[in-house]
Amino acid sequence: KLRVLSGMQPSGQLTLGNYIGALRNYVKLQHTHDCYFMVVDLHAVTVPQEPAALREQTESVAALYLAAGIDPEQATVFLQSSVSAHAELGWLLTTMTYMGELERMTQFKDKSEGKESVGAGLFTYPSLMAADILLYNADQVPVGDDQKQHLELTRDLAHRFNGRYGDTFKIPQGYIPEVGARVMSLDDASKKMSKSSPNAGSYIALLDPPDVIRKKISRAVTDSGREVKYDPAGKPEVSNLLSIYSAVTDKPITEIEAMYDGQGYGPFKKGLGEAVVELLEPLQQTYRDIRESGELHRILRQGQERAQEQAERTLSEVKAKMGFVTL
Ligand code: TYM
Repeated sequence: KLRVLSGMQPSGQLTLGNYIGALRNYVKLQHTHDCYFMVVDLHAVTVPQEPAALREQTESVAALYLAAGIDPEQATVFLQSSVSAHAELGWLLTTMTYMGELERMTQFKDKSEGKESVGAGLFTYPSLMAADILLYNADQVPVGDDQKQHLELTRDLAHRFNGRYGDTFKIPQGYIPEVGARVMSLDDASKKMSKSSPNAGSYIALLDPPDVIRKKISRAVTDSGREVKYDPAGKPEVSNLLSIYSAVTDKPITEIEAMYDGQGYGPFKKGLGEAVVELLEPLQQTYRDIRESGELHRILRQGQERAQEQAERTLSEVKAKMGFVTL
């Protein structure tokens, strides 16, 4: 079985963008692949986090994985911070990453832009992400479009390590969806939908109540026309909503265009709102059941044990190859 690894930051509420770009592929891949899905809490602290909020968001993301349909018996679900090998290999790979490579990362440029003080961890973030992936010798990494550059660096680091110390790491591939790899904001189709946006109207959180979902979609920015047509250059907002509609219902975009032919944006947005509610309502019910069951920590401990075993094995091999004394 091919190995899959991915993760999400508990730095806010998961959004429909996270679901469409990545989470629904986690669910799909678990049946055919050997999967590791983690909550990347060590990455979340690259920007300041309130301890109570971090704890809550971390548990929330883990519960949302399960609510979305990840079966913890089939896939290994765990917290990044519970497997110390991530931080260790992260350090080792940081020493092998060039400043220039990190300076070119667009996520770093976006997140640090205009900030007075930026933590060094935000800069070295991609080396830790490479460690996450390489520790498990993952073949495939399901992510959205915005992680392509980080994945490319991961591949470069794997080649670099293998070149210096002998064949050790597999070279991972991205698993990026055709529709929905980059879900855009509801208020501005030039920005990606983001859980850390200050404007809650710009995203649909997976835990937004149905009425809020309907309202946010009905208020989504559209152009002044009335034709429901996929045209990313000419109609970026409507095209974004069409992509979401297609991803959420598994209907081809052409079919959705035909459904709303000549009807204008009102019925289209209404239909989309209902489709999103239909997807998220059952997920939210399962989420509440999981949070109330008190099973989450047990599941995460079980995941920790499985992940640790694999990660420790890779880390020992890496340390021996680099010349650390084995005692
Ligand atoms: P994060 O937490 O920002 O996002 C989690 C996943 O959701 C995808 N995503 C989107 N996809 C489509 N449209 C959007 N608007 C959108 N916003 C987010 C992201 O591409 C991602 O797949 N660096 C990673 C976390 C990470 C990781 C890893 C991922 C750390 N270690 C190892 C894979 C493997 C991040 O910040 O994701």
